[in-house]
Amino acid sequence: KDCVSVGLLGLGTVGSGVVHMIDSHQKELQQRVGCQVKVAKVLVRDMDKERNVDLDDSVLTQNPDDVINNPDVDVVIEVIGGIDQAKEFILASLNNQKHVVTANKDLMAIHGRELLTAAVENESDLFYEASVAGGIPILRSLVEGLSSDRITKLMGIVNGTTNYILTKMTKNNVPYESVLKEAQDLGFAEADPTADVEGLDAARKMVILGTLGFSMKVGLDDVKVEGITRVDEDDIAYSKKLGYTIKLLGIASSTNGSIELSVQPTLLPSRHPLAAVNDEYNAVYVYGEAVGETMFYGPGAGQLPTATAVVSDLVAVIKNMRLGVNGKSVILPQHERKLKEDEE
Ligand code: NDP
Ligand code: HSE
Repeated sequence: KDCVSVGLLGLGTVGSGVVHMIDSHQKELQQRVGCQVKVAKVLVRDMDKERNVDLDDSVLTQNPDDVINNPDVDVVIEVIGGIDQAKEFILASLNNQKHVVTANKDLMAIHGRELLTAAVENESDLFYEASVAGGIPILRSLVEGLSSDRITKLMGIVNGTTNYILTKMTKNNVPYESVLKEAQDLGFAEADPTADVEGLDAARKMVILGTLGFSMKVGLDDVKVEGITRVDEDDIAYSKKLGYTIKLLGIASSTNGSIELSVQPTLLPSRHPLAAVNDEYNAVYVYGEAVGETMFYGPGAGQLPTATAVVSDLVAVIKNMRLGVNGKSVILPQHERKLKEDEE
């Protein structure tokens, strides 16, 4: 095939970034996968919305079947967000033998196992690198780069919106509400930012990291969660005075087959490397018994960083298509152990 056709579900912050990347990086994509990559159909809610993308109007549709049941579409990219409808669309795409790329951590944290199983059964790929830490290739690093090691601790700033808010509150003494609005305008926040500020978005990402890092069955119920809504200007001022920085930190540790996960505002000594992670940037610290300390840093949200992860997943899918090995390298823990409590 001299051309691979992509069907896009969603054309918001991330979807528009994906269209832009496929257009602006077409030469690099063709060099890497040996064929042209084109966007064939795009599902949107509102056909009349003004959009800053270079796409023919005829490519847009309000009918999901034009994407998920379209025989010309090889790869479906899901960037509508939410859970139920996204799940339905992804399952239908996989059952139609399409490969899927998604940025949806809400969905993957809850239904990842079911969807990945459907992918394997259909010999389709389902990749989700963009679901954790935006532009940082952390999922592949865990399951490929560090696959030989025993990981015992994962710690990170994994929500760009709250890190942006805490950074502005700390550096510019700006009140919480106005910074949240800025983070929304910049496209970092979720459609409903409650999940960001209440810590749920970070908790979902820690579930994905914990599942892959520890090869364990980890669920949202296993995560103790507190967001940043109770952090006020006084907390920031006192912590600064004492030489500390407040960060929303996700922590996952594994000891003797049992794990602990939490997301909470944490006082970090200002010289700690994670204290220097500012704005929408994320960082994930990974401790492996053999490798020791590693840290992954980069933009955790936003249009082009997230699109980079999505389009890189697309490249992986197309390379697998060329080799005929789709569905063989989905990022699913190979040897799942059960949580200690489950076994007792
Ligand atoms: P947006 O709200 O900006 O975009 C959502 C898009 O999906 C819109 O184009 C919307 O259409 C379309 N859409 C939503 N529901 C439907 C529906 N039922 N039928 C048809 N179209 C629909 O979201 P983002 O781009 O910010 O996020 C998308 C996904 O990526 C989410 O899962 C998010 O968690 C994830 N993500 C986002 C990051 C970011 O920095 N923003 C980073 C990493 C992951 P319309 O335009 O017509 O309204
Ligand atoms: N709302 C998310 C964040 C987007 O702020 O981190 C990236 O997953």
